[in-house]
Amino acid sequence: MPISVVILAAGQGKRMKSDLPKVLQPVAGRPLLQHVIDSARELAASDIQVVYGHGGERVREALDAENVAWTLQAEQLGTGHAVQQAMPAVPDDHLVLIMFGDVPLVQAATMQRLIEAAAGGEALGVLSVRMRDPTGYGRIVRDRAGTVARIVEHKDANQKERAIDEVNTGLMAASAKRMREWLAQLRNDNAQGEYYLTDVVVMAAKAGLKVNAILADSEDEVLGVNDKVQLAEVEAIYRKRRATELMLQGVTLVDPSRFDARGPVTVGRDVHIDVNVVLDGKVSLGNRVRIGPNVVIRDSEIADDVEIHANCVLDRARVGARAIVGPYARLRPDTVLHEEVHVGNFVEVKKSELHRGAKANHLSYLGDATVGERVNVGAGTITCNYDGVNKWRTEIGAGAFIGSGAMLVAPVKIGAGATIGAGSTITKDTPDDKLTLERSKQLTLDGWKRPVKQPKD
Ligand code: UD1
Ligand code: MG
Repeated sequence: MPISVVILAAGQGKRMKSDLPKVLQPVAGRPLLQHVIDSARELAASDIQVVYGHGGERVREALDAENVAWTLQAEQLGTGHAVQQAMPAVPDDHLVLIMFGDVPLVQAATMQRLIEAAAGGEALGVLSVRMRDPTGYGRIVRDRAGTVARIVEHKDANQKERAIDEVNTGLMAASAKRMREWLAQLRNDNAQGEYYLTDVVVMAAKAGLKVNAILADSEDEVLGVNDKVQLAEVEAIYRKRRATELMLQGVTLVDPSRFDARGPVTVGRDVHIDVNVVLDGKVSLGNRVRIGPNVVIRDSEIADDVEIHANCVLDRARVGARAIVGPYARLRPDTVLHEEVHVGNFVEVKKSELHRGAKANHLSYLGDATVGERVNVGAGTITCNYDGVNKWRTEIGAGAFIGSGAMLVAPVKIGAGATIGAGSTITKDTPDDKLTLERSKQLTLDGWKRPVKQPKD
């Protein structure tokens, strides 16, 4: 049966006390709603509908939502009303799977079980879970035989119902045709004056349809995010899940609670990662890569046997085998370091390629540069790539030696094997294999005296 996913994301999230709409609050750097859309995509659904409202266009624009259809719920009259807004676009012969934009950690395997619980539309599938503290959630009310009779919202529940620890996660699967009929009969005579999606359970039960409430494996997977405390809880669960995944692939994490993988990561064998490391976006780490403490790596490829020392930031960089980076290095977008390159303390590299064995070990800026094999860039060297209007390139030939404190004013080419004297400001191309320097003569002035302090009157 084809599946239509409907994601509810129109609510304001008052309890967040934030100007950012709730579903845009980030977990692992991505909006809550993005997590939900991404897991919906794993289901091979025929379409994904997102019901949005609070936050309006801002929500749509903030997401990577290709092939997602948007339905506006102008007024937030409840979860049932929200689903109703999306239903005109869902054909009768589909199974509709409802997800909440504020329940971000549900895994594809669980959704698959829920879909099976809907038995091709012959039953109503509800995903429930046992909660240590069910406060705030809708409770699953079963009769003596254990059959699900209804769901009662916390605010509408009596003492006895509030003692039930099996709660509604919000995820549901049902025949679209039946869902449409039930939604049309919803009423809002309840504690919140809302059209509750959960009331379809009573309708299904009354119509003699089986309600299959299946339990999620753990409450961690189905936590709803309503305030900043829960947001941090979800972040911690996500962090742990990703860290566990990588450790099971053989990565050594000195402290998994101080490691964040936020995007797709691929790893070789025997990778070692020290504390406070953030991997963001798409990152690949080769065999035996070692990463020191306090390192941020975003969208980068790190080859085998690379060492990244403490306090480095890498963004869209490629680092070749056996290279050494840091401590305190910053590799900015389009940096390519070939094998055995060393980039050391307080060195910033942007849009530059350093060929095999090149070294820039101290206090340098290399921007828009090509640095040949085995070049040694002395401390404090700067490629002056910007004239205030345009960016220009610097090319340094293989084997060149750049003395400390050189200013290479681009566009400029340094010959292969050339030596540049320390402190030179190089504005013209320099020949291969020769020493070029640009300095005023050193003077010593006889008879010069230091100024002395004037007495105050
Ligand atoms: C809901 C469920 C509750 C369940 C809990 C799980 C109902 C009536 N209650 O309660 O049984 O235990 O989730 O987390 O369904 N939304 C809209 N439009 C609206 C109202 C809500 O799109 O008019 C969206 C919200 O953006 C959110 C989701 O629906 O993503 C849930 O709404 P929320 O207000 O958080 O419901 P809960 O009180 O948490
Ligand atoms: Mg909620």
